[in-house]
Amino acid sequence: MEEQRAIDDLHLIERQHAALGEAIEELQEVSVADLAAAQISACRLTLLTSLGSHMKFEEELMKRHGYPLTSTHTIAHRAFRDQFNSVIDGIDNGVVSAWNISSLLQKVLKHHEINHDDIFGHFLIDKYFFHAVEDGSGI
Ligand SMILES: [Fe+2]
Ligand SMILES: [Fe+2]
Repeated sequence: MEEQRAIDDLHLIERQHAALGEAIEELQEVSVADLAAAQISACRLTLLTSLGSHMKFEEELMKRHGYPLTSTHTIAHRAFRDQFNSVIDGIDNGVVSAWNISSLLQKVLKHHEINHDDIFGHFLIDKYFFHAVEDGSGI
């Protein structure tokens, strides 16, 4: 039962990461020069809203599954959000050129996934499956 729930949670995290990646990729097709300030704000709002709810979801999961690195990962979420904001602020200030916004945001996302989310994913698999297999085989 808990094993199935952990698998469902992992799939949900994956789908949310994919959706965030797609939302960022869509920015590639928008020329910042053509974007009105209101549209830039809309991009910021959409990205930060999905990012915020994704992070909240992960933080709830970490607590529910007793993840020992919950506080480190939660602090990393704040740094992640700050980095996102500074890239988007760069758009508003004309510091970040149109062609590299998307790749900068993708890098921030990938960096967090590799350094934090993947480790949480491995913890869940280890907790519910690796030990479950060991127990089942009598090791
Ligand atoms: Fe995370
Ligand atoms: Fe994540």
